[in-house]
Amino acid sequence: MWKPPERIRHPLPEPGWPSAVAAAGSRLFSPLEVGRLRLRNRTWVPAMVPWRATESGFVTPEVVAWYERFARGRPAALVVEATGIRDVPSGPLLRVGDDRFVGGLAELVAAVRRASGGETRLLLQILDFLVIRRRPEREKYLSRFLTVTPRHLARLGVANEEAAREALARCSEAELEAVLSPRELEALRFGYRERVTDLHLQHVAALPRALTGLFAAAAGRAEAAGFDGVELHCAHAYTLASFLSARNDRTDGYGGSRAARVRLPVEVLERVRASVGGGFVVGLRMLAEECIEGGSGVDDAAFFAVELARAGADFLSLSRGGKFEDAKQPKVGAAAYPYTGPSGYECMPTAISDARGPFGRNLAAVRTVRAALRAAGLATPVVAAGGIGTFAQAEEILASGTADVVAAARQSLADPDWFEKVRRGRGAEVRRCIYSNYCEGLDQMHKQVTCQLWDRQDLDEPDLLRSRDGRRRLVAPRWRAEE
Ligand SMILES: Cc1cc2nc3c(=O)[nH]c(=O)nc-3n(C[C@H](O)[C@H](O)[C@H](O)COP(=O)(O)O)c2cc1C
Ligand code: SF4
Repeated sequence: MWKPPERIRHPLPEPGWPSAVAAAGSRLFSPLEVGRLRLRNRTWVPAMVPWRATESGFVTPEVVAWYERFARGRPAALVVEATGIRDVPSGPLLRVGDDRFVGGLAELVAAVRRASGGETRLLLQILDFLVIRRRPEREKYLSRFLTVTPRHLARLGVANEEAAREALARCSEAELEAVLSPRELEALRFGYRERVTDLHLQHVAALPRALTGLFAAAAGRAEAAGFDGVELHCAHAYTLASFLSARNDRTDGYGGSRAARVRLPVEVLERVRASVGGGFVVGLRMLAEECIEGGSGVDDAAFFAVELARAGADFLSLSRGGKFEDAKQPKVGAAAYPYTGPSGYECMPTAISDARGPFGRNLAAVRTVRAALRAAGLATPVVAAGGIGTFAQAEEILASGTADVVAAARQSLADPDWFEKVRRGRGAEVRRCIYSNYCEGLDQMHKQVTCQLWDRQDLDEPDLLRSRDGRRRLVAPRWRAEE
């Protein structure tokens, strides 16, 4: 992962753990009673892909164990990982693109209900993504994958495709730069990647028509499986986020101005809302800032938030960065990954950072977005995430009106019981995330995600679920006080 050049090591912030009495009177453990999103308190575990589904996208016992473990810590809300809405192969990513996935998801829901005593509200994050291919071998790309056009023939000064491919094979890197277009060079150096702006591709041009129905059907299946709601994934590097991006210059009414860029997410939201029951929660995750050159900033996010809230979003969960545009060049045979560049760092900052540090980097932007909602008379709850892992931070976020709900991804992975420990006045027992991104490294390699603070502990436990290589436990050890 990219790291800021300053490489300043930041100590963990003072936790300010409360006594049980202070926790009971705190903002963090006060209920949220706004609209459909009714939470027993303000604690939230955001989506994290643990790469545990089958190659065909089905729930496995390892997936169930992952969510069951978070549920034992009884967060008010738990968001199940990014789950594909299409019925297409997508590796070990969960899928909800067909009714055959509902049974497995229903088992997951039942496990969470049991483990949390029914106290945790369970949401499914649903997403669409465009085609991305692995970085090809140079020889294969030039001899097979590249579509040779008259432009290439003219630039190379040859008469036919065969001669063009022979000439291309002999080109230096600098010569290739003169012959290939920027997109072709990108396909060669990073792997081919579709954009929402590729209107020459029929299926990309048709996205607005296709996606409303696909998202609505997926939400219907989530409801059938027993989830409390869905989170439409409009953040990071995926299709709906790319529609919101300032880099989206589609000319069909779905790109260009802010109003045009938010049009498809609004249409998806309205269609999903119309297709599910009245009590079912439909919220969104989007970016407070894209953190890429020419990307959307906080003013765009504030505009989108108001439009989406007016269109009926039950909550807005705000993340940051995580884009393809500045991702690191992958190795030959691997695909580009959106969390490997500076914007990826903004999404999941590590303890080695710049002067701003990794803790609460997104909060100033979140505060601005929430203020815009309130100024427009909208009470839609806002969820903040990014480098939050203490009671002191959480209380400050709520007291200052920055957000209504506090989400912690990596801290919850490091210690799935941490909210519960804090609530019971046992904060000193929290296993604190050190923001090393060992977990994120596993995620990047599509390996089963675990935490370095516990995955080698008590490996002799009976019936322990282990990683494929047998070397790591797949869920955090039990908290003794819980037994
Ligand atoms: C292993 C891993 C997988 C993640 N998967 C998702 C995902 O599926 N959807 C999503 O919106 N964010 C995903 N994220 C981002 C987190 O939800 C969160 O926004 C980010 O980690 C910053 O919060 P934190 O500092 O509390 O970890 C993932 C993060 C990690 C570490
Ligand atoms: S591996 Fe564990 S300690 Fe390191 S960042 Fe991930 S959750 Fe935190």
